Amino acid sequence: MLAAADYDGGAFDLPKCMSGDSKVVASGGSACKTGDALGVDLFCGAGGMSLGATWAGVEVALAIEKDPNAARTYQHNHATTRVFVEDIRRIEAINLKHGGRKRILFGGPPCQGFSTSNRRTRSKDNSNNWLFLEFVRFADLWNPEWIVLENVKGITDTEKGLFLDLIVAEFEKRNYAVSWWVLNASQFGVPQKRDRLFVIGSRTGGIPKKPSPPSDSTTVSVRSALSDLPGLKNGASVNFLPYRGTADSPYAQMMREQMTMSANHLVTNSAPHIIERYRHVPQGGNWTDIPQKLMDNYSDRNRCHTGIYRRLKPDEPSVVIGNYRKNMLIHPHEDRGLSVREAARLQSFPDWYEFKGSIGFQQQQVGDSVPPLLAKAVFESLMSET
Ligand SMILES: C[S@@+](CC[C@H](N)C(=O)[O-])C[C@H]1O[C@@H](n2cnc3c(N)ncnc32)[C@H](O)[C@@H]1O
Repeated sequence: MLAAADYDGGAFDLPKCMSGDSKVVASGGSACKTGDALGVDLFCGAGGMSLGATWAGVEVALAIEKDPNAARTYQHNHATTRVFVEDIRRIEAINLKHGGRKRILFGGPPCQGFSTSNRRTRSKDNSNNWLFLEFVRFADLWNPEWIVLENVKGITDTEKGLFLDLIVAEFEKRNYAVSWWVLNASQFGVPQKRDRLFVIGSRTGGIPKKPSPPSDSTTVSVRSALSDLPGLKNGASVNFLPYRGTADSPYAQMMREQMTMSANHLVTNSAPHIIERYRHVPQGGNWTDIPQKLMDNYSDRNRCHTGIYRRLKPDEPSVVIGNYRKNMLIHPHEDRGLSVREAARLQSFPDWYEFKGSIGFQQQQVGDSVPPLLAKAVFESLMSET
């Protein structure tokens, strides 16, 4: 177990290595008291949830992530947050002075074990499915006013709802008023139909109101999200590129701000027989559109689901950006997979947000993230309670 990091809400020095083989990554920047609340992000990944929290006025002081590539992405984009690259189970204390501000403990424990597409380890025998207990332990360690635990909707019926029931019960035992919401990202300005579940615990005397979609909101299509990004080829590997043209949708303008170049234009280098399969899939189609003779050597055919070899429809929000490399998600107009930047746009990461590590790690980080605009809506509903 590791010792605690001290944080007094002001500027900090690079932290000392905590113990043994532990490694702490931190910025040299100062953690200024800009936020209306102080946050700790558990299982922070690339930082989608933290970005939404920051947009809502939360100062995220500390984040914990065991994967060094995701942590590198996180640190690059959240310069003033102290990032611990560590298995969360080895951290034994946190000591953050909050200066009277409300504390929010938030994050998304691994969700693969609750996903309906997981037919092998979606059960109580999957040890990762018990990592929510770390949330409970951290709630005891830090005593936050609010808790926000995010996961996939599939947790509601994994083992007949056992995990969700346990999470709610553990929070209630600690005097949190608890509520949970399933929200679809496409209703909050994200060009993607993605359901996420948020369990909210509050000790402030009430439960924040479930965010409702803005009354003037229209869904953002794949075309609006991607049309100004550079044209790419299968296997594209140049990181930084200029835009293809002007940002002609409000969404693209918001993602792009004043930038003239952006990063992460990386596309999986698919074999020629895969590209041949792509050619047969129309917009909105999937693997069932590929002639049988081109799928003969496809060993997973019996396990195919509708998301395999799916080509995006330009006029609708995207299907879920999850494991989009493995699922062979196809660009709406080009016979290739999505670039990391395109996937990031469909998740509502602005273009200044850069992903680190090799292409496979970047793809995973983007797919694992909570869409920042959806997270922002959730945190705003908490902040409106203050
Ligand atoms: C669903 S992702 C989090 C996504 C993040 N909330 C976001 O919005 O970008 C879960 C993360 O938990 C990390 N993780 C899994 N087990 C862990 C552990 N024992 N300790 C720390 N991090 C862990 C994974 O590496 C992964 O990045």
